[in-house]
Amino acid sequence: MVAAVGARPVFADVNPKTFTVDTADVERLITPRTRALIPVHLYGQPADISGLARLASRHKLKIIWDAAQAHGAQFSGRDVGSFPDAVCYSFYPTKNMTTGEGGMITTSNRSLAAELRLLRSHGESGRYRHVRLGFNFRTTDVASAIGLHQLRRLPKAVRARQRNARILAKGLTGIPGLQTPEFVPGTTHAFSLFTICVDASRAGISRDELARALSLRGVQSAVHYPLPVHRQPVFRGYGRDRDFPASSRLAKTVLSLPVHPGVKDEDLRYIVRSVREIVKA
Ligand SMILES: Cc1ncc(COP(=O)(O)O)c(C=O)c1O
Repeated sequence: MVAAVGARPVFADVNPKTFTVDTADVERLITPRTRALIPVHLYGQPADISGLARLASRHKLKIIWDAAQAHGAQFSGRDVGSFPDAVCYSFYPTKNMTTGEGGMITTSNRSLAAELRLLRSHGESGRYRHVRLGFNFRTTDVASAIGLHQLRRLPKAVRARQRNARILAKGLTGIPGLQTPEFVPGTTHAFSLFTICVDASRAGISRDELARALSLRGVQSAVHYPLPVHRQPVFRGYGRDRDFPASSRLAKTVLSLPVHPGVKDEDLRYIVRSVREIVKA
């Protein structure tokens, strides 16, 4: 979206343990031309909200948080959707809640909220009165009805994800070369994804070999994501002059295991047992 509005995205590397943006790397990249930060609460793990907010305030930057995977995540006891300046959500079907397709922006800034409402519906300020150019980004009534129902179910769904994640993390602890998700004190991970890292040299098996072996046992896994954003063809030229060692390594080692609310205790036990047997073999 940054490039789509004619601005220039500048990529920063991530913290290899939390998978969220590395605040120190962001700081090094800030120039007088920087206008905003867009940290992602990846997999449902809140980014370093206090560190990034301090940075933004010091350099007079706006923050647009990407909470597309973090419905229900918290930072210092506060929902990630409540931090300034704006927070973007996705309601794509794989997310913690869905409307089929669609999304939402939350903000406590009244004038920004008014501007966003205008943009949503062709700049219409009152019935058939248009004060600026806008778009048709309205959510349909049908999608909204689904969303309201999903929203009521969200707290329970997130609790189920967190419970499943704790069981998986405990079961998979202590396997050489296998890193389980970080539980950062003071934050509540929403576990849209439960993503492990496989260090082939220590585990004796590569991420892709583990995925294939799990698949043969009927356990679905997925790679989020195989191609770092600076390697995406669309961003050819952006960030190619830099190294992103953590992102590049993670693209080769991450593997997401089933964590959604439909996964039963016996499934979790089966997943843990399968990973342990495959890695040992
Ligand atoms: C972290 C992140 N940001 C942005 C998006 C884009 O959301 P949407 O597909 O609803 O535009 C997604 C989901 O696909 C996502 O996971």
